[in-house]
Amino acid sequence: MCGIVGYIGPEQASPFLIEGLSKLEYRGYDSAGIAVFDGNEVHNKKSVGRLGILKKKLEQSPLEGHIGIGHTRWATHGRPSDVNSHPHTDCTGNFVVVHNGIIENYMHLKERLISKGHVFTSETDSEVVAHLVEEYYEGDFEAAVKKVLSEITGSYALVFMTKHEPEKLICTKQDNPLVIGLGQGENFIASDIPAIIQRTRKTYILSDGEMAVVTKDSVWVTNRQGVPVNKKVFEVNWDAEAAEKGGYEHFMSKEIYEQPKAIRETMSSRLATNNSKIIFDELKWNREEVAAIRKVVIVACGTAYHAGIVGKYYIESMARIPVEVDVASEFRYRQPLVDEHTLAIFVSQSGETLDTLAAMKEAKRLGAKTLAVTNVVGSSISREADNTILTWAGPEIAVASTKAYTTQLVSMAMLSIYIAGLKGTLSEERTHELIAGLRNLPGQVHEMLEDVEEIKTFAQQYGFNEDVFFIGRSLDYAVALEGSLKLKEISYIHAEAYAAGELKHGTLALIIEGVPVIALATQHDVYEKTLSNIKEVKARDAVVIGVAMQGDDEIKKYVDHTIFIPKVDKFLAPILAVIPLQLLAYYAAVTRGCDVDKPRNLAKSVTVE
Ligand code: G6P
Repeated sequence: MCGIVGYIGPEQASPFLIEGLSKLEYRGYDSAGIAVFDGNEVHNKKSVGRLGILKKKLEQSPLEGHIGIGHTRWATHGRPSDVNSHPHTDCTGNFVVVHNGIIENYMHLKERLISKGHVFTSETDSEVVAHLVEEYYEGDFEAAVKKVLSEITGSYALVFMTKHEPEKLICTKQDNPLVIGLGQGENFIASDIPAIIQRTRKTYILSDGEMAVVTKDSVWVTNRQGVPVNKKVFEVNWDAEAAEKGGYEHFMSKEIYEQPKAIRETMSSRLATNNSKIIFDELKWNREEVAAIRKVVIVACGTAYHAGIVGKYYIESMARIPVEVDVASEFRYRQPLVDEHTLAIFVSQSGETLDTLAAMKEAKRLGAKTLAVTNVVGSSISREADNTILTWAGPEIAVASTKAYTTQLVSMAMLSIYIAGLKGTLSEERTHELIAGLRNLPGQVHEMLEDVEEIKTFAQQYGFNEDVFFIGRSLDYAVALEGSLKLKEISYIHAEAYAAGELKHGTLALIIEGVPVIALATQHDVYEKTLSNIKEVKARDAVVIGVAMQGDDEIKKYVDHTIFIPKVDKFLAPILAVIPLQLLAYYAAVTRGCDVDKPRNLAKSVTVE
């Protein structure tokens, strides 16, 4: 997974390439590089490490020219190093390419090219593409690229440039995103919109198999068969600031604070004014269709998977349909029992996670009805699905997902009420209560975010512990999983989430004096049981921070500290209970001096298996 950019126009290419890459670092940031044609030669500058290192190199010896391509890398084939960084070149240095994805048959191609005398400098799969263009170029750049595309298999977004035809860039994609920004006398190419939004709002979003020849004045798109495609201009309506930090120290804190708005927008126009039903214009399912669903599977990765676990509780309780939840990388290889009576839901912030996309293709192949819950319009997962529910969280940049998660929960709640409505499994009164509860959420989240001092103090107090445990039952357990993931991914503290009743079957052995245990106790039907589990850890001298609903005085007797969330329906409690856990993780990471927005070894969008 990587970010790629391209520029062609009257201005110097380097500034856009660097600025664009800085907006794409969430896609990977272990190395970066750019190549620019100066009128005579293609010059390539690349470096392992963050973009800042490349910037310094460019300050010392700038690259001048009006056409160029760039790349920010997240290593897959070949460790992060200068030579493995993109752009990659052929033997002559005249053909350059940037690639996001994996060329699956590269070994075979590489052996063939080596036997023909090509000399490779990197360990990457991507370099093979540059040598292939060199091999096939006979005075027609487009024809050579087409030939390359007919040979490579796997996933890719590619941008090509050559000194032989320096008035054009060629780009194409398969299973990885690519957008073209349409300027005045200049054009831009990027993996994602934040990279180009400062320059233009008019875009073409390329589909799989499409290839575009981009000059400064034109963009010519064809499909795999070479037939011209009449692309519709997609006008980006986010404001430029939405993709920026907007005054916050980190994208993560900004995104935590955006949650009231994100939740409100995700619900807007979907809650009937009299709270009687959920309106999903994008679904328009009928009673017969819903009655035919015998089973639901929810498939996702990471935080989105945790949203899926909450979704299981919701759908099973409200719509009374059995639900399985699985991580995408497991689902696709376990010969899932899925058929035309299955509703398969794929939750993905980016809509590009390769495992989730592949799992969706597998479910489709088996005949399931597929539904994407995603935050990105036009993303691969959304395009592949029969239906899409968009979470309207706006761009999420921090690697640790926050607003995407809460909007996924809201979407799962709305979906469950919607299905239950069509199945007749939820009373009018209960439907009304839940929708009214949903309406209150943005205000309640806002209220919680107004005073975070206490949580900050806990994070400072316990931020240097080696281990932290999260426990809860039922929906609290689902939130515990997300709380623990947040803490470990950004603060590098070892955190484990346990179903509170399961602790005594092994993990209780790890609870010793002073170990922090975050105990969620928002679910009234299992409240007493959770209290017993809290007593178990207290008896081993753990330090317990309880998360409970306002008005719960009982819990204070058993815990060392309590974080209260506003009173809310038990189904909606996860959407509020996760907020202090996000903040705890955030402040723990800040206290420990971690790189909050770009935690080590991780990337925002994982488009490799
Ligand atoms: C990566 C991110 C996680 C995210 C997961 C799934 O691992 O670091 O934050 O939850 O991918 O991403 P998706 O875009 O499919 O929700």
